[in-house]
Order: sequence, then C-alpha cells, then structure tokens
Amino acid sequence: MDDYRYDNQTVNGFILSAIFWGVIGIVAGLWISVQMWLPSWNVAPYFTFGRLRVFHTNVLAVGLGIGAIFGITYYIVMRLTRVPLFLPKLARFHLYLFNVAMVLVALSLLAGMNQSVEYAELEWPLDVGVVILWVIFAIVVFGTIIKRKEDQMYISLWYVIASIVAVAILYIVNNLAVPADLFKSYQVFAGVNSANVAWWYGHNVVGFLLTTPILAMFYYFLPKSTGIPIYSHRLSIISFWSVVFAYLWTGAHHLVYTPVPDWIQTLAIIFTIFLIAPSWGSVVNGYYTVGSDWSAMRTNYLTKFFLWGITFYGLQTIQGPSQGLRTVSQLIHYTDWVPGHVHMGTMGWVTMTVCASIYYVVPKIYKTEIYSIKVANTHFWLVLIGQLMFSITMWITGIQQGAMWKAVNPDGTLKYTFMETLVPNYPYWQMRTVSGLIFTVGMLFFIYNVLMTMHQGKQRMAGAGV
Ligand code: HEM
Ligand code: HEM
Repeated sequence: MDDYRYDNQTVNGFILSAIFWGVIGIVAGLWISVQMWLPSWNVAPYFTFGRLRVFHTNVLAVGLGIGAIFGITYYIVMRLTRVPLFLPKLARFHLYLFNVAMVLVALSLLAGMNQSVEYAELEWPLDVGVVILWVIFAIVVFGTIIKRKEDQMYISLWYVIASIVAVAILYIVNNLAVPADLFKSYQVFAGVNSANVAWWYGHNVVGFLLTTPILAMFYYFLPKSTGIPIYSHRLSIISFWSVVFAYLWTGAHHLVYTPVPDWIQTLAIIFTIFLIAPSWGSVVNGYYTVGSDWSAMRTNYLTKFFLWGITFYGLQTIQGPSQGLRTVSQLIHYTDWVPGHVHMGTMGWVTMTVCASIYYVVPKIYKTEIYSIKVANTHFWLVLIGQLMFSITMWITGIQQGAMWKAVNPDGTLKYTFMETLVPNYPYWQMRTVSGLIFTVGMLFFIYNVLMTMHQGKQRMAGAGV
C-alpha cells in the first residue's frame, strides 16, 4: 500500500554498485588464480599477487558483499517495518560515499598501502571512512526500526541489528592504531595479543558480514519467493541468540598450535564445535520450510538458489568446526584446503543467496518479471559446477600439501623440500582457474539477466506512462 514511498532508488543503486565491484573482484580472483601457476602474470609493482590478493578479498567482501548487504537490508527493513527509510537523503549519501570509499580502497591497495592485518588491511584514513559508512547505515536502519508501523520484529530484523552492532565493535577494536603519517598506521596491539585480536575480529567479521546479514536475506526471501511461511519462528530465534553468543568466543581456532595460551585455544575449540547446533538450526528451518512443498525446487528457480545456498552454509558449518579441531588443523592449516573452505562459503552460500535476493528485488522495483528464467537456471548450474570444482580441487590439493609437509624420513628429517611440495599443486591450481572461469560465465549470465530485467521494466513503465 505504501509502496510509492519506499526508497527503491537507493536500493537499486547499491545493487548496481555491488554488481560492478563484483565483476572487478572476480576478474582479480581469476588473475591471482593464474599467477599461482604462471608467475609471469605478476606485473610489478601494482599487479603482483601480494597486492591483487588483498584487492580481490576486499573488493569482493566489501564491494560485492557489503554493497549488496546495504542495499538489500534497506529493501528488507522498509518492508518489515512498513515505513520508508529514516532520513532517505542520508541513505542516498551513503550510496555515494560507499562508492567513493570503494574507489579509494581499490586504489590504495593496488598502491601497496596495507596495514598488514588480514581483512583489516586499510590504512587509518580509510578506516575512519568505513566507520562513517557504518554509522550512517546504523542511523538509517535503527531510525527506520524505531518509527516502524509493524509491532512484530521478524527474525531478519534481529539478524540485521546483530550484524550492525557486532561489526561496529569488532571493527573499532581491531583497528585501534597509531597513525605514523597520512598513509601509514600501526595496530596498537603487538605480538600474541595482536594475533588474538586480529582473529577475534577476523572470524567474527566472517560471522557478522558473511553469515548474519545473509541469514537475514534468507529468512526474508525464502518465504516471500515460495509463499511458504518459515517452518519455525521459535527455532529461528533460538538459533539467532545462540549463534550470536557462540561466535564471539571462537576466533582463536585460527591460532591452533601457535604461542596463544593453550586454554584460549581450547575454549575457542569448544565454542567452535557448539556452533554446529545454532547454524544447523537455520539449515533445518530452511529445509523444513521447503519440505512442505518440495515441488518448489522444480517449479521455482529461486528456491533452488536459496536451498543450495543454505546447503553450502550447512556444509560450511560442519567443515568449519572440524577444522578447529587440533588433529584436523595440524593437517590442513596453511594449505589450499582453507581457500576451498572459504570459497564454498563465499561463492556458494553468500553469492547464491545474494544473487537470488537480487533476482527477487529487481523485478519488484521495476514492476516487471524476471527477464529470463532459462538464463537464471543456466546461471545457477554454472555457478554450482564452478563452485564445487573450485572447492573440491582445493580440498584434494590441500590434503596432499599437508601430508607432504608432514612426511618424515626414518631419521626424522623432512622427506620433501618446500619446492618439491609445490610441484604437484600445479594441475589443481590450473583446475581452479578453469572452475573460476565457469563460475564467472555463470555470473555474466546473472548480470545480463538483471540488466535486461531493468531494461524491460523501464520500457514497460515508459509505455504505461509511469
Ligand atoms: C560454524 C561456522 C564456521 C566455523 C566454525 C568455521 C571455522 C573456520 C576455521 C577453524 C578456519 C581456519 C582454518 C585454518 O586456517 O586452519 C576457517 C577459515 C575461514 N573461514 Fe570458516 N568457519 C565457519 C563458517 C564460515 C563461513 C559461513 C564462511 C564464509 C561465508 C567462512 C569463511 C572463512 C574464511 C574467509 C576463512 C579464512 C580465514 C583466513 O584468511 O585464514 N567460514 N573457518
Ligand atoms: C572466479 C571466482 C574466484 C576465483 C578464481 C578466486 C580465486 C582466489 C584465489 C586464487 C585466492 C588466493 C588463495 C591463496 O592465497 O592461496 C582467493 C582468496 C580469497 N577469495 Fe577468492 N576467488 C573467486 C571468487 C571469490 C568470491 C566470490 C569471494 C567473496 C565473495 C572470494 C573471497 C576470497 C577470500 C575471502 C579469499 C581469502 C582466502 C584465505 O585467506 O584463505 N573469492 N580467491
């Protein structure tokens, strides 16, 4: 009823921005995947692996991930509160500032400006920019929730609130730094403390950026796109509180067998195992929701994306806790197994859920239908195949690497030199590039479909004099 007041332009702008940064980040991913087996693709100084790798992770996690999260969260929050955005002009400014910040992020990383803390590479002036962006997001979202016309707080809103609060705390604590000059800063923590804080932040930023806002989308769009209500609200609330509580204790599972005190590692491992339960609360909720009408998997292309997305989340949240165990960690840590784990989450769970949400939102904004279900299905199969191939090859080569590093001769000396352990990786790294290409073609189908849907909607609106 209030549809005309919803600020669809800002949502649309964020979706287009996310797509733009997504393309750039994926090209960088392909490039670094080639550099692993063809070193001549390192073009010094701007396009070496060291710079392009952080460019890839930041442009995708922030540009694609956070860009989509900002836009889709605005879309969801307006519908769940039944009011327009609080301070819509501020939200529009948020969109512009986001893109300016992304340009500076991309250029500074290519220029080699790097704080040298993983997933917190940006130098301090950009950290200030990130905090401003996040504060604006919080003002718009919380302001909208406060003036809502809907009493019920649907589960997606809880996930959005948790994401905003947690990321704010994590980002500020981890980025406490002493500026040396305009382009250089040093984290205030040192040694073991620095590692501990960095992974408390690192793991939770995965949790509160690549998990909770994506769950907010999943819980909103799965019932919307299937017409089937979520199976259990109680289960969704229980898993919400337990996931939020448990996540914050688990960071040290990245630091197993390091100088971090043993009890901190053990505590982290215990909470890591516990995380399976709340994570699977959402997986089970998704399956049982669609379980009341499995034909939706055949008849509704979006259901396929959402269910495969949550399936990858389910696999990821069994694999993740196993990786925290000491016996597993000592085999797979530092190997290619870990990028295999990472990309099942990012290319599988996150990208599939985000793409499906965009497929739902764009036709609604442009008052039309999706341009082609056939193209959407082709996109689905290509990203599924590309993703599976990527992760499976990395798991195989990861175990092989780990086993070769650990192999010893009867006299206790290492069986293989490090260089010898690299040689068998080549075919797998080449396969990763092929799988990345398949995934990229799938994403090009997605972009084509979204842009054509927008074009079709604009033409119809023009025809109808809207
Ligand atoms: C129950 C949930 C999860 C647990 C307990 C978990 C656990 C772990 C562990 C133990 C590692 C360290 C592996 C190593 O280096 O030895 C790891 C790495 C990683 N995980 Fe997960 N994981 C979970 C879910 C996810 C999800 C859903 C995503 C993404 C969508 C994700 C993304 C990552 C990333 C990006 C890294 C690499 C960090 C690095 O740069 O070293 N994880 N995870
Ligand atoms: C065409 C698709 C992609 C290709 C070819 C690709 C390739 C790569 C490569 C080669 C690495 C470096 C691995 C290493 O250091 O050993 C990497 C790391 C990473 N990529 Fe991608 N990637 C792709 C898609 C994505 C997407 C869609 C996301 C996120 C939304 C993503 C997030 C990451 C992250 C977080 C890491 C760091 C992993 C770690 O530290 O273990 N990638 N990627």
